[in-house]
Amino acid sequence: MRSYRVWEHGAPSTMRVDELPDLVPGPGQMVVDVKAAGINFPDVLVVSGKYQILPPRPFTPGKDLAGVVRAVGAGVNGYAPGDRIMAQVENGAFAEQAIVTPEQTYKLPDGLSFEAAAAMGLVYQTAHFALVERGQYKRGETVLVGGAAGGVGLAAVQIAKGLGAKVLAGVRSPEEAEVVRAAGVDAVIDLSVPDLRESIRAQVHAATDGHGADVVLDPLGGDFFAGALRAVAWCGRLVVIGFAAGDIPTLKVNYLLLKNIAVSGLQWSDYRDRTPERIQQVQQELFDLWRAGAVKPRIMRDFAFSELPEALDLVSQGKVQGKTVVRVGEGA
Ligand SMILES: NC(=O)c1ccc[n+]([C@@H]2O[C@H](COP(=O)([O-])OP(=O)(O)OC[C@H]3O[C@@H](n4cnc5c(N)ncnc54)[C@H](OP(=O)(O)O)[C@@H]3O)[C@@H](O)[C@H]2O)c1
Repeated sequence: MRSYRVWEHGAPSTMRVDELPDLVPGPGQMVVDVKAAGINFPDVLVVSGKYQILPPRPFTPGKDLAGVVRAVGAGVNGYAPGDRIMAQVENGAFAEQAIVTPEQTYKLPDGLSFEAAAAMGLVYQTAHFALVERGQYKRGETVLVGGAAGGVGLAAVQIAKGLGAKVLAGVRSPEEAEVVRAAGVDAVIDLSVPDLRESIRAQVHAATDGHGADVVLDPLGGDFFAGALRAVAWCGRLVVIGFAAGDIPTLKVNYLLLKNIAVSGLQWSDYRDRTPERIQQVQQELFDLWRAGAVKPRIMRDFAFSELPEALDLVSQGKVQGKTVVRVGEGA
């Protein structure tokens, strides 16, 4: 079977495609024939060696996959060869076969394609945990999403709309504004204007009759954080998800006290490792939102297996609206 592997950290083009023996499941494991793999921003960080969790080299990167169970190891219950599944692994998705455990795995509902499933893993789980668990969202509240046309951002927009929120989408180009309008957002917040510290508050207050945002989901950091904090409503919550804008912001905590607001952080993989049963429950809620038509992974482009480095470059340049996936196995 063919597998991308990182021998030396660097640009995506430095990965090699190696021919490896078929994988064999150990106790408690399954081997999956991968049909599609989703590309995530952290994959670029893993390949370049800048991610917080790095395995010894050589290793196969890739965190989101969908495919068919090929073999089941001793002690695995509830799965059999032939099952259509999706899984989120720490590494190993960018290959024709992958090892997964039942805790990381979800059976696909009928009608959900491998490509859509591969695009519906990490970013939707992240967005759901940020909104519901960390953001303590309540039905009908106003939610401001930064980077709203990106992977996590667009997932957050769809989930929040599906759960009855008024959604304000922060984007910085007309093309991105089109994408979020198509997703049904209630207002677009222009992040291309100067002085975001003041202009985000002014735009959010104009869109909410001065109320502000009850929940802010921030995958950007930088000046978005400073501006969004000023746009939070009384007793509102801001959730730090990532720093796609580059800078890690600092915070003067007197501001939290003055407005009775809370700032919290989200590290999704911690929930995956510490509370796998909660992750399983959230994925079923995401499948329900998909069945209801609220969650619709937007695949900007699907790449052939041989084009994976190109797909990673696109993500690293921030040129993706929604998600990119790679077709593996028979799809390639
Ligand atoms: N905490 C967790 O558990 C967790 C899980 C998954 C991801 N993350 C993090 O979340 C962040 C987003 O991930 P993603 O997968 O959504 O990435 P993505 O698909 O590349 O989306 C990032 C979005 O941010 C926008 N953006 C970048 N810089 C900006 C700026 N200065 N001002 C306004 N918009 C800007 C991009 O728009 P343009 O096209 O205009 O550049 C793009 O729409 C990353 O930092 C990632 O590491 C965290």
